[in-house]
Amino acid sequence: MKTAMTHLLCVGLILAVSACAADESADPLVADGSGTLGQSVYAQNCASCHGVNLEGTDKGPSQLSIVYEPNHHNDDSYRSAIANGVPQHHWPFGDMPPVEGLNAEEVEAVIAFIRSEQERQGFQR
Ligand code: HEC
Repeated sequence: MKTAMTHLLCVGLILAVSACAADESADPLVADGSGTLGQSVYAQNCASCHGVNLEGTDKGPSQLSIVYEPNHHNDDSYRSAIANGVPQHHWPFGDMPPVEGLNAEEVEAVIAFIRSEQERQGFQR
């Protein structure tokens, strides 16, 4: 009985893992196998406007702009942007709508991912 349960659990896990892998396969940042929770949250919820590599799109600003360095936009401004959205004020892209459906862990993970990318790629001045 115990073995059967363990077996079922494993099958469940494998299914869950492969479902995630399939979702992320189109994203270049994840394609090298270094995917993290924050990275996949970013890819699914932010990249469409802020760019797959944080470089920005025609719908949103680059997250590598010096405007977003931690002394100007701290992590609380990220939490607030996700929860409440952002009225247009720095750029001509329009308002950012609130990003719905993220739990606290996902919010912290995506902020950590953006901060690590900002550090890795450096800010544009
Ligand atoms: C529908 C497009 C869109 C999506 C999706 C989006 N953003 Fe934005 N975001 C914007 C735009 C546009 C602005 C710029 C507003 C301005 O300052 O003019 C912005 C600004 C921001 C800011 C600056 C907030 C401030 O106080 O000025 C942060 C932080 C941010 N976004 C984080 C995120 C994160 C994290 C995600 C994903 C969880 C995300 N955004 C998803 C469009 C988007």
